[in-house]
Amino acid sequence: MSAQLPGAPHVQYRSEELFVEEVRLADLAREHGTPLFVYSRAAMLSALAAYQRGFAGRKAKICYAMKANSSLAVLQVFARAGCGFDVVSGGELERVLAAGARAGDIIFSGVGKTRREMRWALKAGIHCFNVESEQELEVLSEVATETGIEAPVSLRVNPDVNPLTHPYISTGLKGSKFGIAHKEALRVYRRAASLPGLRVLGIDCHIGSQITQVSPYLDAMDRVLDLVTAIEAAGIPIAHIDFGGGLGIVYHVEQPPPADVLWQRLLARLDARGFGDRQLLIEPGRSLVGNAGVCVTEILYLKPGEGKNFCIVDAAMNDLPRPAMYEAFHQIVPLQPRGGKPASYDVVGPVCESGDWLGRDRKLTAQRGDLLAVLSAGAYCMSMASNYNTRGRPTEVLVDGSTAHVIREREDIADQMRKEKLLP
Ligand code: LLP
Repeated sequence: MSAQLPGAPHVQYRSEELFVEEVRLADLAREHGTPLFVYSRAAMLSALAAYQRGFAGRKAKICYAMKANSSLAVLQVFARAGCGFDVVSGGELERVLAAGARAGDIIFSGVGKTRREMRWALKAGIHCFNVESEQELEVLSEVATETGIEAPVSLRVNPDVNPLTHPYISTGLKGSKFGIAHKEALRVYRRAASLPGLRVLGIDCHIGSQITQVSPYLDAMDRVLDLVTAIEAAGIPIAHIDFGGGLGIVYHVEQPPPADVLWQRLLARLDARGFGDRQLLIEPGRSLVGNAGVCVTEILYLKPGEGKNFCIVDAAMNDLPRPAMYEAFHQIVPLQPRGGKPASYDVVGPVCESGDWLGRDRKLTAQRGDLLAVLSAGAYCMSMASNYNTRGRPTEVLVDGSTAHVIREREDIADQMRKEKLLP
């Protein structure tokens, strides 16, 4: 029953009990309550190691896209392992610096950076701004001139390739709000080179998320390398090439290439085109943390319905929004499997919305009070959690071997109301 679980070998059954590394999840649930996020440190480091193997002997920087999971201790794991970071807000910048990242290892992405965020990042001394529009370039030039700190820039270009993934997480197609159109890029690079306060450093792209095939990456790489050739021919040197993130993980039956295999293929293309010795950057998020996390939840009620059974659990769309937002599939398994004939259930949360479901038509042998684990919940779950229905966000635990560290306490009602004010 163990080998197929996403996250294995770090998430697996031992004698019919679900463990994360050496820790029994049922023990954590008893101690800390549910819903509860549990992460495996070893799973994160092993996901990182696949990229590191892929880049062995290359000038490459792995910048963890921290939006996937921005809990401080998770950031610490990656900072200590030598990662850089991709941030998309002043908040993320502050957070990752608090976790011990070096400013010089941080790149700043996003379509809507404010002047305040730009000033912040310039003063911190980040490695590079990934700029997404001509107007952003103009504003960054002004802010850099005002502060007297030169801004290192890379332009995010939109290569117009189809990443073959969910439309909400496709970003590199024409008509997407992201990046600078491929045909405009050379002109905008000339502009960047002429504006005061800016230093052109690199080029970047990011075509989407949960990508499970190599071909979109190869297409994007070709498009970006064509541009590098043209930009350098115009006398603007490009020191680094950033290929973004996007590699998918296993939620269900997907078969994404392992990170080292993906990069073997991409580096072969890069070498063949004569760019193999360039400084490379990547911005993986999901593939570093997604399979390292589970969300443990308790069955509150079993409710037979007309034509459908509901399994009502104490985790909901506010804790784990991916099914509600993208109809995403996450495996849901019992912590302590029971014998008996399974029935089919929609696994739903307590939030007052029909969209509040975690899994549909799942075969479970379940009783009230049983514990379930929602798998592949390390990425874009806690980082997208909200307080909808005035629900406190869950406790998070990071497991390291046989040690379990509480890395975030459950939010209580006082936490939630702290910034609010009653009328006089
Ligand atoms: N770089 C940039 C500029 C990005 O926008 C993203 C993700 C990444 C890197 C990291 O991509 P990853 O390696 O994680 O695929 N909430 C959605 C995913 C949104 C992705 C947003 N951008 C989900 O739950 O599927």
